[in-house]
Amino acid sequence: MDMRYTTFRGGIVGAELRLPDRPSRLRKRILVTGGAGFLGSHLCERLIGDDHVVVALDSFQTGVPDNLAHLADSGRLKVVQHDIVEPLPDTLPRFDEIYNLACPASPVHYQSDPVKTLSTCSTGVLNVLKRAERDGARLLQASTSEVYGDPEIHPQHETYWGNVNPIGPRACYDEGKRFAEALMTDYARSTGIELRIARIFNTYGPRMRPDDGRVVSNFAVQALRGDDITVYGDGSQTRSFCFVGDLVDGLVGLMEASEIDRPVNLGNPDEIAVSTLASRIVQLANSTSRIVYRPLPTDDPRQRRPDIGLARMLLGWEPRVDRDAGLRVTIDYFARRIGRVQRAPTLLAPLGQA
Ligand SMILES: NC(=O)c1ccc[n+]([C@@H]2O[C@H](COP(=O)([O-])OP(=O)(O)OC[C@H]3O[C@@H](n4cnc5c(N)ncnc54)[C@H](O)[C@@H]3O)[C@@H](O)[C@H]2O)c1
Repeated sequence: MDMRYTTFRGGIVGAELRLPDRPSRLRKRILVTGGAGFLGSHLCERLIGDDHVVVALDSFQTGVPDNLAHLADSGRLKVVQHDIVEPLPDTLPRFDEIYNLACPASPVHYQSDPVKTLSTCSTGVLNVLKRAERDGARLLQASTSEVYGDPEIHPQHETYWGNVNPIGPRACYDEGKRFAEALMTDYARSTGIELRIARIFNTYGPRMRPDDGRVVSNFAVQALRGDDITVYGDGSQTRSFCFVGDLVDGLVGLMEASEIDRPVNLGNPDEIAVSTLASRIVQLANSTSRIVYRPLPTDDPRQRRPDIGLARMLLGWEPRVDRDAGLRVTIDYFARRIGRVQRAPTLLAPLGQA
């Protein structure tokens, strides 16, 4: 039977998407590491909406409990503060599925403690693998388009091995995620655990941090404040931005698909120059901000666009949310966020024995 999922339960579009079969009414117990982060909180929301029981495990390095506060009354979420660099707590229940999202994703954050980032991608990933093996859980790794580095081919297909500077300022993340893919693949080969690797391209949406330095959040916050919009380089470098609801559909589709034995790109092929994006955000925010140009950081990729042919073929997945629609929702979110008085973190249900 085909299951149908509505794109983004937060609800800006009602587009429907066909994903692979799974028995209906099967409630699973699912671990989401990095569950209090931007992508993780949307994924938890989706999985709870699908009637599963979710443990969100997070060190709160970049995520915040407040991202999950609206799910506290569902009765199906536990939030656990834990760093995956330490072995996962024995008190956790057995899981059917594990999504490993724990890792800071924005350059500002992953470069603030690069050795920690490498530990999360190595020791942390090994701890998650051990847990998946012990539980017989299917494991999905949130990998990244950064494994392609500054790509020499365009668009980027999964068969491309990448162009990464192993000693540059981005290496802790790029090489960390490459190491994680290698470690997970070898671990899966030798133990037989079921592994999924999602190579995620730039994703944006509500619950990004205003201070995380990523391009959409930077531009939206600067436009809303009437500050200069900072474009690094001449702005001709391109990115392809996927709305978070689409991305979450892709993650769930990949986890549920059977017999996937290779990494799969998830992202939106709708490519745009960074300076064009800046102008569009200024318009959508009704802002008077000027665009100013600053030197391009070391190893910043010139071009970025996913080839999503594999995801289309294996998962029947492709993004549905139009760029302007996604940007409007995101700008609205930042308008409320930067205008609002910070609330104290909401207390969530403590972990019990499940
Ligand atoms: N958002 C994107 O555009 C994008 C693109 C490619 C890949 N990804 C990957 O997706 C995942 C989530 O990204 P995001 O954008 O939500 O970032 P995020 O920083 O909002 O979320 C990461 C979460 O992981 C937690 N975390 C970090 N290190 C941890 C550790 N050692 N132990 C436990 N928790 C830890 C953080 O506190 C945070 O809640 C990351 O693995 C990232 O590499 C994201």
